[in-house]
Amino acid sequence: MASRPKPAADTATIRQATRADLLAIYRIEKQVFEQPWPYAAFEKFLGEQNFLVAVVGDSIVGYIVADTTPNAGRDIGHIKDLAVHPDAQSNGIGRRLLRRAVTGLTVDGAARIKLEVREHNTRARSLYRQEGFEPSQRIPRYYDDGEAALVLVNEQSVDVDISDV
Ligand SMILES: CC(C)(COP(=O)(O)OP(=O)(O)OC[C@H]1O[C@@H](n2cnc3c(N)ncnc32)[C@H](O)[C@@H]1OP(=O)(O)O)[C@@H](O)C(=O)NCCC(=O)NCCS
Repeated sequence: MASRPKPAADTATIRQATRADLLAIYRIEKQVFEQPWPYAAFEKFLGEQNFLVAVVGDSIVGYIVADTTPNAGRDIGHIKDLAVHPDAQSNGIGRRLLRRAVTGLTVDGAARIKLEVREHNTRARSLYRQEGFEPSQRIPRYYDDGEAALVLVNEQSVDVDISDV
């Protein structure tokens, strides 16, 4: 898809991921991450309401994996993976996926949402900061190559505007 024009974010449809999407998701994962999730890791999240894909035409252009964990009456949402195909990046699709997942997790009862991001992933960190995620912890050597992770947290203290996703 290298020669195709970038899809505008508003032409992408966001929906729950299905088994038929997994190969396309896995291909993107291998393209954008040095330490990609194995295929089987995505399979485990099938059926999860906040495992979402962005679709343009019949192509998967991005995905997000998120879930909620019970935590003594204050559920925690976790953004576990987010990626957009290199040819479709910087066009608003990552932000739409993130907003949809944050809304979904909040509707599911998450009072706070957390994620880990590579310390030097300035692009992703910029998006997360704009969407209200703030650093709460630095974990040295979190990744296999020795890079540190930042734990970012979004406290869901305000109502989410679902017309904005
Ligand atoms: C991080 C990622 C998901 C963002 O998705 P995207 O569709 O490219 O991002 P968007 O177009 O929605 O942009 C949202 C914000 O991200 C940041 N961003 C996007 N492209 C950027 C670029 N080329 N340089 C710097 N910041 C950038 C900006 O803050 C941008 O907001 P702005 O447009 O107001 O400046 C995507 O770049 C990606 O898949 N990267 C590789 C995988 C990855 O790092 N995932 C996150 C793991 S924690």
